[in-house]
Amino acid sequence: MRLTEQVHHHLQKIIQHGDSVVDATTGNGHDTLFLAECVGKAGKIFAFDVQQQALQSAQNHLRNHHITTPVTWIHAGHEHMLKHIPQTLHGQIKAITFNLGYLPHTDKNITTCPSTTLPALKASLSLLKSGGTLSILAYTGHDGGRDEAESVKAWAETLHSDFDIHITVPQNTKFSPPEWICIQKS
Ligand SMILES: C[S@@+](CC[C@H](N)C(=O)[O-])C[C@H]1O[C@@H](n2cnc3c(N)ncnc32)[C@H](O)[C@@H]1O
Repeated sequence: MRLTEQVHHHLQKIIQHGDSVVDATTGNGHDTLFLAECVGKAGKIFAFDVQQQALQSAQNHLRNHHITTPVTWIHAGHEHMLKHIPQTLHGQIKAITFNLGYLPHTDKNITTCPSTTLPALKASLSLLKSGGTLSILAYTGHDGGRDEAESVKAWAETLHSDFDIHITVPQNTKFSPPEWICIQKS
């Protein structure tokens, strides 16, 4: 099973209809669509991206799939997520997904980076509800990707016992594979 499929398989087991979730790196909306299918029309999604073009593409993607889940599209960096998500939902979010790197076929300079990713991950922990998951898929093949993956893993390893950490690093692959850091709040 591909790593992206493993991520979705895990999230599918955790997320239920009616849950509130966050897509921290919306891009073309493939993960947003997946999250919408998990939470259904009774759920809520908060979808962040620094590129308006990405949010537009994701909106079209969901419209083409006739998705009726309420999505709040947020044109801002995920490092500001605490101020964009209503206080009443702090501690109530079931899953937060990060898909690090740049949007394929666009400007490779607009990429996630540790100086904003790490504050966003810290903020994410305070949004999660008990039993919720923070999932980070870190691509390592582009400039800065390896450093970012390493800094996320180093940060995850400092977390205390309220969190279960699972790190999946595919072995024996010829190309730089993505790595998956999965943090579960107990
Ligand atoms: C690998 S792509 C995400 C792909 C996406 N999950 C999809 O299904 O198409 C990474 C995205 O993160 C966005 N990004 C970069 N820095 C960001 C930040 N500080 N906050 C939110 N999004 C950011 C980029 O604009 C890009 O669209």
